[in-house]
Amino acid sequence: MSIRSKTTAAVASAAAMAFFAGTALAASPGAPGAGDPYFPKYGNGGYDVSHYDIRLNYNPTGDQLSGTTTILAKATQDLTQFNLDFLLKVKSVRVNNVPASFVSDDGELTLTPRGGVRKGQDLTIVVTYADSPSTVKNGNGFTAWTKTPDGALAIGEPEIASWWFPSNDHPTDKATFDVNVAVPTGVEAISNGTFVGQTRQINGYTRWNWRSTKPQATYLTFLTIGQFELRQGTTPSGQPYVNAYSERLGDNADAAKASIERTPEVVEFLSENFGPYPFEAQGGVVTPNLGYALENQTRPTYDTGFFRRGANTYVVAHELGHQWFGDSVSVHHWRDIWLNEGFASYAEFLWSEHVGEGTAQENADFTYDLYPADSEFWNVLPGDPGAGAVFDGAVYDRGALAVHALRVAVGDEKFFEILKTWVAEKKYSDATIEEFIALAERVSGQQLDQLFQTWLFTKGKPAEAPGRSADV
Ligand code: ARG
Ligand code: ZN
Repeated sequence: MSIRSKTTAAVASAAAMAFFAGTALAASPGAPGAGDPYFPKYGNGGYDVSHYDIRLNYNPTGDQLSGTTTILAKATQDLTQFNLDFLLKVKSVRVNNVPASFVSDDGELTLTPRGGVRKGQDLTIVVTYADSPSTVKNGNGFTAWTKTPDGALAIGEPEIASWWFPSNDHPTDKATFDVNVAVPTGVEAISNGTFVGQTRQINGYTRWNWRSTKPQATYLTFLTIGQFELRQGTTPSGQPYVNAYSERLGDNADAAKASIERTPEVVEFLSENFGPYPFEAQGGVVTPNLGYALENQTRPTYDTGFFRRGANTYVVAHELGHQWFGDSVSVHHWRDIWLNEGFASYAEFLWSEHVGEGTAQENADFTYDLYPADSEFWNVLPGDPGAGAVFDGAVYDRGALAVHALRVAVGDEKFFEILKTWVAEKKYSDATIEEFIALAERVSGQQLDQLFQTWLFTKGKPAEAPGRSADV
């Protein structure tokens, strides 16, 4: 053994030590949250997801869900470990084909990939799991997954993903989706986007394959399983649609159809006001057991109760309004919820005027008069309602009044230019209320701080209904 070779070895190991020392200094655990002030544990840091492939089996008898989610992502920093948001029992995890150790704790699945991850590295994360989701509770003792008599509903806002797929569960990290779910043949399994067909499985199961090709938030990704009547076809604008009606709608079934079947008409009307419809498919799902409606991307879900007095196209206009305001342009923080609910509620005012049931101004007057000045309603700030009040009535109704106040202040031409510019500039992305105000000021050339201060950020009933004419 020569001195020379010994020297070489020493040099080599010094270089190796320097390399690992450098890595150890830069690499750190990914943050367990996305930095949302209302919900600090939602989402995670250190990586960016581009695609989810969710491949599951569901047995409605016994609420048994099992399968695999494959996540394509890219590391945004050097990582020693990182988190996914997930509540179900995990069987195995692989990162780039190598088994990774993992720990599940209160909705955070922490992965430690062997050798760490470098900034910019492509990640393929494979998580296999099996659980009975309706029995799984989050830290608040709450279950978002709903077991129904004939299946299940994975629908919720802001929380649902953690009950059926591991994710970076925050609207600031959207991705495309394939949702492929096998259920007993004869049962329907419905999700977002385009229906790509069925595949027969072993043991009497049929797999339903759905694909979303536009960026989609985790909470807007849904799964509905049960006995449904499906209606599908192509809209006049050339888009595929699938509507699904639970076989348990009873007397509401026809009123539901008289509403949901008009989805393409409502989309067409809203497109004239907001700009082109942002997605590749349309539809609606009507079911009992939900208790509200939710703007699931391309295919909102409606509780049957909305149709108990006949057709209700207002809720359709609301949920479809969200396709622009909420789904394509998403909240940056959940605090920005007015960007969703204020504008979806205003879509109802616009629809009312369109169908001749009252102008937007008349709806604004009516809404303003609905709440007396001493009502608690006026103490919830649509611009910052608090984590416990993101769906408070004030976010919707006072939120719509704020939108109308803007319209009155800038005039119709600038108002619709603001809406269209907003959805075009922020398409498939996320945004804050502050960014909306800045854009409204830019497009209108007006100083609007006082208006938004009054309608979004100040407690108490503003002195006047926006735009009400003095002689009425
Ligand atoms: N974004 C839905 C809508 O306005 C409301 C969701 C309410 N969520 C709930 N858990 N109730 O249509
Ligand atoms: Zn809404």
